[in-house]
Amino acid sequence: MQEIIALADITQFRSRSEEFNPYDWYRDKLQNEPISYNEATNTWNVFRYDDVKRVLSDYEYFSSVRTRTTISVGADNDEGRGNDKINTINADPPEHRKRRSLLSAAFTPRSLKLWEPRIHEVVRQLLDEMGDAPVIDVVKDFTGALPVIVMADLLGVPSKDRLLFKEWVDTLFLPYNKDKAAEIGELKRKAATEYYTYLFPYIVQKRSQLGDDIISDLIQADVEGERFTDDEIVRTTMFLLGAGVETTSHLLANSFYSFLYDNDQVYGEVRANRELVPNTVEEMLRYRFNISKMDRTVKQDNNVLGVDLKKGDVVVAWMSAANMDEQVFEDPFTLNIHRPNAKRHLTFGNGPHFCMGAPLARLEANIGLELFMDYFEMIEPVPGFQLEENLTPSAAGQGLVSLPVRVKRA
Ligand code: HEM
Repeated sequence: MQEIIALADITQFRSRSEEFNPYDWYRDKLQNEPISYNEATNTWNVFRYDDVKRVLSDYEYFSSVRTRTTISVGADNDEGRGNDKINTINADPPEHRKRRSLLSAAFTPRSLKLWEPRIHEVVRQLLDEMGDAPVIDVVKDFTGALPVIVMADLLGVPSKDRLLFKEWVDTLFLPYNKDKAAEIGELKRKAATEYYTYLFPYIVQKRSQLGDDIISDLIQADVEGERFTDDEIVRTTMFLLGAGVETTSHLLANSFYSFLYDNDQVYGEVRANRELVPNTVEEMLRYRFNISKMDRTVKQDNNVLGVDLKKGDVVVAWMSAANMDEQVFEDPFTLNIHRPNAKRHLTFGNGPHFCMGAPLARLEANIGLELFMDYFEMIEPVPGFQLEENLTPSAAGQGLVSLPVRVKRA
């Protein structure tokens, strides 16, 4: 296991709500300490747009091969571990190119076209299950379930097992918690073993009966004779779930939070003019995807950012702060769904590691919001909602565990 760097030692937020609304911290860092050394974690932290972009993409100086990291997902038993052929996140070009090519078999434009109606189906089912209730929990009933059920469907897991699948995935990617590390580690190891034992026979079976699903795509992936084994395919699915489930849930949940609490005009405006949905999703990725950051390890001594960095130093690039850089975004601290360059956000990264699942995440968010708007003509906050009590500690991004909403069906 790599040593995990505790982000809380860098940010020093006093409450979860402050962490969920870290705009003052970003403003302060961007203005006063755009590149700063944090002693408690022995890391360099970079906030401005151009610097963040450089750290993410310039692999000659900033490597993704690490011994210390801020990424804390997955289980550390045999079944929960990836191996070198699978993990694109931990490699630099040219090795990275080979691994990414193998994985890209699962993300072709053809796949996206095939997935669209299936995502529609999953979203419709979830919306139907809400019935006519006047108050829903949009996180428990919708945003927390949608991405994992979509992934189960795209992997080809039978629909009867979807809830079982969701339970394993929820456990596997529980956020890192210093105080409960041993207990959570045990739960994760158990879930990884069960998940592995469940999925492995499907891979074997699909080899003789290929279908239209990600597992079948991975079975057929071939880069210069290099192919995935059954074992590697199970691990690859875990890697994809780790990269794609919590992140997409977070994007959707935070969008609803924004509609309710950041600007209550947006929902009605977008509902009346659906052409605004794609740019609304981009603005949510820019403005509401907080605590998005990636680390890199300095590969050779350099001064490319204007400070002396030594080989082995860890640099944390804060994408969500870069998304607030006024050199790139006008009036950056205001949510503006009409922002012409919202899509320039760095929330999906930049350079060779740019998120492979970005088209899928965008598709899920667009379909999810569109169909939700078809069902519900109005949404309102439920009085008494306490943000502080409804937030997890940060993992891939800090998440809402519950968000009650008063709804009126169309
Ligand atoms: C990489 C963010 C959804 C699969 C990344 C990276 C970021 C990111 C920042 C770059 C990591 C780096 O530079 O080291 C997000 C966000 C998402 C999302 C914000 C949703 C809102 C997804 C989905 C999938 C996915 C749905 C697939 C099911 C991947 C993979 C990589 C990656 C495979 C590794 C690419 C590489 O190392 O070359 N993602 N992601 N992501 N993402 Fe996503």
